[in-house]
Amino acid sequence: MTDAAQTIAVYGAVPADVVEVPQRATQFSPLMPGAAALEQQTEASLSALTMLAPPGTLERRYAIALGLRALAPGAPFTILAPNDRGGTRLRKELQALNCTVEENARRHHRIVTGTRPVILAGIDEALAQGGPRLIDDLGVWSQPGVFSWDRLDPGTALLIEHLPPLSGRGADFGCGIGILAHAALASPAVTEITLADIDRRAVECAQHNVADPRARFLWTDLRSAELSGLDFVVMNAPFHDAGAEDKSLAQTFVKRAARALGKGGVCYMVANRHLPYEAILTPVFKRTELVIEAGGYKIYEART
Ligand SMILES: C[S@@+](CC[C@H](N)C(=O)[O-])C[C@H]1O[C@@H](n2cnc3c(N)ncnc32)[C@H](O)[C@@H]1O
Repeated sequence: MTDAAQTIAVYGAVPADVVEVPQRATQFSPLMPGAAALEQQTEASLSALTMLAPPGTLERRYAIALGLRALAPGAPFTILAPNDRGGTRLRKELQALNCTVEENARRHHRIVTGTRPVILAGIDEALAQGGPRLIDDLGVWSQPGVFSWDRLDPGTALLIEHLPPLSGRGADFGCGIGILAHAALASPAVTEITLADIDRRAVECAQHNVADPRARFLWTDLRSAELSGLDFVVMNAPFHDAGAEDKSLAQTFVKRAARALGKGGVCYMVANRHLPYEAILTPVFKRTELVIEAGGYKIYEART
C-alpha cells in the first residue's frame, strides 16, 4: 500500500451484523446525499474499502471497478452482497478483475475479501458498461442503476400523457433522470422547477437532460428536505427503499408534497394500481381526483 493512501472507504448501508465497518470511514454511496464520489477519487488514494455491492450486474461491476481503481495496491477490500442480489456472483466478478479472493457466507450474504493487486484487469470495460451514457433511442442521458435506466417507465409515460399545462414554481419529487420535469417545462408558464432525487447518478443525468434555466437540481432525501410555497408537484413516487418494497416511503412522499405546496397547489402523481394511494392522499389534500386508471397505473390530481 502507498504511504499516501489514507482514506478508509465504505460504500452503501453495510449491515453491521454481517461485517464490521471501520469507524472514521468515508461514505461513497451515490444513494447517500452528501457522500463522496468514487468517480472523483484519485487512483491509489484509499487505504481500505468495505462495500455493500449494488444489485444490478452492470451497476455492481462499475462500483467495484471504481473502488478497486481508487484503492492503493496491497490495500484490503471487503465486498459483500445478499445471495439473491449478486452475492453468489461476487467471487467470479472479482476474479475477472484479477483479484485473488477469499469467500465467506453469513446471514444470507456472500462476503469476498482480498487485497488490491498491483495490476487490475477489465476495469475500463466495467467502467464503460456501467457509466453514464446517452441512450440513443430515448435521446436521454442515463446510467445503469438509476430508475428504469434504459426504457421509459410506462407509469411515467402515462403521467406525461395526462399532464395538463402547468404554471408557476414546482418540483419533480424523485426526479430520476428528469423525464417528468422535462415534460412539465414544456409549459412556458412554468417559472421554476426543482428536480430532487436521492440518487446522485440520476441527478447528474437529469442535469444533462433538462438543460433549462428554469431548472434547479437537488441531491437530497425528500423524507427530510424542506421545500415550500410551490404551485405544483409532479411525481412517480418510489415504493422501494434499498430494493425492498416500502409503502411508507410513498406515503412520506405524498405528505411531503402536500406540505411543499402552497394554498391551491396541485400534485400530479402516478402510482401502481395495487398501492392504496387514495387512503394516503385523502387525509392530506383538500380534493383528490382519479384522472385515469390504465395499464396497471393510476394518475391522481390532488389539490391543497
Ligand atoms: C419511481 S422513480 C421515478 C423517477 C422519475 N421521476 C421517472 O418518472 O422516471 C422514483 C425516484 O425516487 C427516488 N427516490 C427514492 N427514495 C427517495 C428519497 N427518499 N428522496 C428522494 N428521492 C428518492 C429514486 O431514486 C427514483 O429516482
